[in-house]
Amino acid sequence: MTKIHLIAAARPNFMKIAPLWHALERSVWCDPAIVHTGQHYDPNMSDAFFRDLKMPAPHFHLEVGSGSHAEQTGNVMIAYERVAEREKPDWIVVVGDVNSTAACAMVGAKLWIPVVHLEAGLRSRDRHMPEEINRLVTDAIADVLWTPSPDADENLLAEGVPAARITRIGNIMIDSYEMLRGAIEADSTRDSLQLVARQYGVVTLHRPSNVDSRETLAQLVAALAQVATALPLVFAVHPRTRKRLNEFSLVQELTTAGITLVDPLGYIQFMNLVSAARLIITDSGGVQEESTYLGIPCLTLRENTERPITVTEGSNQLVKPGQLAAVVGTLLGAKTRATRRPALWDGRAAERAVQDLARRIGHNQ
Ligand code: UD1
Ligand code: UDP
Repeated sequence: MTKIHLIAAARPNFMKIAPLWHALERSVWCDPAIVHTGQHYDPNMSDAFFRDLKMPAPHFHLEVGSGSHAEQTGNVMIAYERVAEREKPDWIVVVGDVNSTAACAMVGAKLWIPVVHLEAGLRSRDRHMPEEINRLVTDAIADVLWTPSPDADENLLAEGVPAARITRIGNIMIDSYEMLRGAIEADSTRDSLQLVARQYGVVTLHRPSNVDSRETLAQLVAALAQVATALPLVFAVHPRTRKRLNEFSLVQELTTAGITLVDPLGYIQFMNLVSAARLIITDSGGVQEESTYLGIPCLTLRENTERPITVTEGSNQLVKPGQLAAVVGTLLGAKTRATRRPALWDGRAAERAVQDLARRIGHNQ
């Protein structure tokens, strides 16, 4: 039996790990286990996703918690090295671009345990983003790179990664959406917030570059307040952002503008809101992809994106805070532009991932 550790750490990891977990669980040749580093720990940033995505409780929990970049990365490395040395997994799968991703990839590489990076090859080319550093480090040392889109393959090849290490499996988050589509449609979150389908916008913000400076966050809050005069907004507030909104005394400006603030939502609840939204305003990586899949206009409050296919093929556009209200005005007055779903964003990425791993290990499925 091939022992496989799946590393899960933060909110955007869970919907990428879940489909792989389920697909590996069905495979007779392997013995998967979930390792939770504890980077996210609030029940609505972690446990809710295990429940929604039908995953068992993590088999190993490192309980690392928050800290500076070095503290968090270092603490995950120390804690995971102990587990990896004791458990001796044959393979480690890391996902996405959070600190725990790079930390566990480094542990695996130094213990000579092969590492797969799921969601490899994405590049914003903005090294001020902590995630870009995590992506570069992880891709440089991973043995197998599972990519979601052709741009990711091209980035890796241009960086000298041998083609044989790269397999395009598509976008695994879509597998989670499709697995839970029925539950998402049946969920009552939209109704309980008295929102009418296609007549509201959903907001999420948590990038340090947007929320950690008083000036930038105040500018964003003012822009959202302006948008709210034309479209009801519901804002699911990330814990980092909640802290900053409180610290900078900006909550009242949002509520006075009539914006509904809610705590971070579970996956099914959040996708119930997203799937019937008129538009999305975000700086999230995953939400750019989900809105592209659903064909819902997405306004991304960032200078760049590591997911350019959501702009070239999908419904995403990069917007500066000062332009937000005007762009929303234009969108509300226009028919939604036709977009397409990128190739291999089809709900079958986990299947392709498992086939690829089995082939590389030499198991005939
Ligand atoms: C992390 C990832 C980011 C990802 C985001 C998804 C890195 C460098 N950043 O950012 O790529 O987009 O997760 O949501 O890995 N906090 C809580 N409860 C929690 C988790 C965090 O209150 O369960 C608060 C703490 O005050 C913490 C802060 O949020 O200090 C930031 O958490 P952290 O995990 O360091 O970074 P995120 O901003 O969540
Ligand atoms: N998400 C969620 N509840 C929320 C906000 C986001 O379930 O309140 C989901 C969202 O659908 C997507 C993922 O979390 O699947 C994205 O995570 P996040 O924005 O925290 O991180 P990023 O993708 O930017 O790294």
